[in-house]
Formats: sequence, structure tokens, C-alpha cells
Amino acid sequence: VKTQSHDYPIVITKDARKLSMSEQIVPFISGQQVLIVTNDTVAPLYLQPLQSALEKSFTVKVCILPDGEQYKNQTSINQIYDALMIEHFNRDVTLIALGGGVVGDMTGFAAASFMRGVNFIQIPTTLLSQVDSSVGGKTGINHPQGKNMIGAFWQPQMVLADMSTLQTLPPRELSAGLAEVIKYALIMDADFLTWLEDNMAAMIALDLEILGQAVQRCCEYKADIVAQDERESGVRALLNFGHTFGHVIETHEGYGNWLHGEA
Ligand code: NAD
Ligand code: GLY
Repeated sequence: VKTQSHDYPIVITKDARKLSMSEQIVPFISGQQVLIVTNDTVAPLYLQPLQSALEKSFTVKVCILPDGEQYKNQTSINQIYDALMIEHFNRDVTLIALGGGVVGDMTGFAAASFMRGVNFIQIPTTLLSQVDSSVGGKTGINHPQGKNMIGAFWQPQMVLADMSTLQTLPPRELSAGLAEVIKYALIMDADFLTWLEDNMAAMIALDLEILGQAVQRCCEYKADIVAQDERESGVRALLNFGHTFGHVIETHEGYGNWLHGEA
């Protein structure tokens, strides 16, 4: 992904052990301090191997947030700041977002604002976050009166999408992610829409090879748009296709009652 601040890679893999081996992300951690931010659903699934591997080289602390869109708020952001302050972490810290778009958006915003900006890495574990929210640097939290109303543009140092994490994702969440995949086809590429129609059954059946191809296509489309218009003064608005209604539904129905992709 080419951006004004820096360029960064998106690594797409099918091998869950990469999370534990961590060699993909180590080169993107510049200091000695690491704060892994995750939630109480993802932590039991994927935290331990990642944490253990990083502890061999870094001082690693963990911030586990409550799971849910309704917690994408100032209270949770303060929990991340508290963890950083209690550990006396400084500008050299790297935050790692391990989870879906909610964890990613909040971790990114904490990274953007702590000490006026520190590094962060995205490890997206939902389809939606792999194809959309982990890429492009939109970070933030919700306000009771509006979704994503407080935030910043702040790009990660890298994105590591491990397709095998989708094997534990609830089917409803997979479908919500597929909504964002279909969005790319509708705004960018009619041939991709045909490809999706041909491969939809395989994706729903969790064919990781096919899902990986879809994630790569979506990330390529998004990287192309972000490179042209990082701050959304023009063409990036295409990525919000459907989102005006979607955000109204999410806000009106109560955060978390309709999933982002469903809305
Ligand atoms: P989410 O982060 O709430 O994750 C969905 C659910 O799946 C959660 O319960 C989570 O704990 C669980 N989960 C995550 N990974 C799992 C796994 N591998 N196995 C089992 N369970 C797992 O939701 P989401 O759909 O990933 O993201 C939605 C959020 O992303 C919204 O807040 C939306 O505003 C935001 N978003 C941001 C951007 C952006 O550009 N920054 C783009 C699109 C959406
Ligand atoms: N999800 C819309 C964007 O990143 O611009």
C-alpha cells in the first residue's frame, strides 16, 4: 500500500502457525516495546502463540478489551491508554491489533493519538477486516450519536492476514465480510462479480485458497484507491458504497445488533 507517510505490505497467508512464528511482523517492530490489543473472544483463540513468540525478543504486554461494536468507544480507548501508561511505554512502542475491525479501528486510533503517534501493526482475524478495515489507515471510535465520528487517518506498518483464522469465525460474521467483498465487485470490477458468483459456494464452505484470492483482489482494489486518495477527498468515497444507509441502520438499531456488513 503506497501512502504519503510510508508504504507498507499486506501479507496474506493460509498458515496459522505464522502467527506464532511471528517472523513476518518482527521486522516491522522498531523498538523493544509491544502492546498487543485484542478482545475476550479472540484472545483465547490466537493470543498465546503470538505473545510467546514475541516475548523472545520484546517486552510484550496485552490489553484485552470486551468484545463488541458497543465497546468501540472512549472507555475502551482509555483502557488502551491506561495499559500504555502503566507500563511506562514510550514513543518506541508498537501496538499490534489482533482481531476484527473493532479491535483494529480502536488500536489504530490509540496508536495515532498516544504520544502524538506511534507505530502499529494489523493482524485482522475476520473477513471484513482482512478485505477492508485493516487496510488504508482509517481508525476511530463511535460516538453515541454517530458511528466512527471520532478518529484519525493513521497507517499501519504492515498487515498480516492469516486466512486460517476464518475457520473459527461464526458463519454470520463470514457473511458480513462477504458483503464488503461484493461491494468491491460492484464499485470496481464486473468480472470480479462474476468470479464471486462462481466461487461463492467455495467461500461459504471456507475454501481458504479461494478466500485468499478474494482477499488479495479486494486489498489490491483498496490499495489502488488509497494510493490515489488517502484522505478521501474524492475517489475513496467509492469505498463507502452503501455505507450512508448502513451507518444509519447500525446507529439507529443500536451498535452490534446489526453487523456492519449486514447493514
Ligand atoms: P468485529 O471486530 O466486531 O468482529 C466480529 C466478531 O467476530 C467479534 O465478536 C469478534 O470478537 C469475532 N472474531 C474476530 N475474529 C474472530 C475469529 N478469527 N474467530 C472467531 N471470532 C472472531 O467486526 P468486523 O466485522 O471485523 O469489523 C467491523 C468494524 O469494522 C466496524 O466497527 C466498522 O465500522 C469497522 N470498519 C472499519 C473500516 C475502516 O476502513 N477502518 C472499514 C470497514 C469497517
Ligand atoms: N472502508 C472505507 C474506507 O476505508 O475508505
